[in-house]
Amino acid sequence: MTHQFNDNVKISRLTSDCASDAFSLACEVFVEASVLHAAINISVEEYKHYLAGSFEAMWRQGLSLVVTDTQTNEIIGCLIACDYLTQDQSLITVPDKLKPVNALLNRLDEMYRNNRQLETGQCMLVDMAVVIENARGQGIYRKLRESAHQIGRKAGYTLVVGELSSTATQQLCVSRFNHKVCAEIEYSSYKYKEHYPFSTIETPRSIILAEGNL
Ligand SMILES: CC(C)(COP(=O)(O)OP(=O)(O)OC[C@H]1O[C@@H](n2cnc3c(N)ncnc32)[C@H](O)[C@@H]1OP(=O)(O)O)[C@@H](O)C(=O)NCCC(=O)NCCS
Repeated sequence: MTHQFNDNVKISRLTSDCASDAFSLACEVFVEASVLHAAINISVEEYKHYLAGSFEAMWRQGLSLVVTDTQTNEIIGCLIACDYLTQDQSLITVPDKLKPVNALLNRLDEMYRNNRQLETGQCMLVDMAVVIENARGQGIYRKLRESAHQIGRKAGYTLVVGELSSTATQQLCVSRFNHKVCAEIEYSSYKYKEHYPFSTIETPRSIILAEGNL
């Protein structure tokens, strides 16, 4: 599957040819620009070491995408998706800095699954999405999402879920796609071991787990 949506950018399946570049890009952008990861101040190397195994397990499910600049052949974005029930099966020790992030995501998951019984093959999780800074605001994430939803639908998934930590992802999924907010946690009041690790995040106000039909 390759989808060229203007002269300069194409979206294609993440395969072994580009997995290593996509992995580096995803880690670099997340550490710098995901509000959660910026708040905990983790290094790219530490994050890569932690994520390598689960990143590979996710893209090998065949639901993930890369965006390439067709002029330079450079990867400028990616979206990593997997079956909701197979996320986070890594056996690697979680670095201390990442523990508050994982605890927050686990809490969102708990809130969601209190009201939802899921089966394998039913719900696709969009786990990560990144676009490089100077390509943002041009609708690339929107195109990535639309392509991923199409792939998920064809693979038999009927639901898509995102743990949306940023304003752009919340804007697109909740306001544009009308995905349902199934769980929400305010950053400023989230407490982990007597600390408020995300109190420095001003926008958005909260992290949201949103579910859409495919
Ligand atoms: C989140 C990210 C992938 C968005 O990529 P993008 O290609 O710039 O997004 P798009 O241009 O498709 O914009 C999607 C929507 O968000 C809106 N948006 C984009 N940036 C925004 C911002 N900073 N504030 C408010 N809305 C924003 C756009 O207007 C668009 O909404 P619209 O369809 O109503 O106009 C990109 O900003 C990124 O890589 N951020 C760092 C990593 C990260 O936080 N990933 C998400 C973790 S959940």
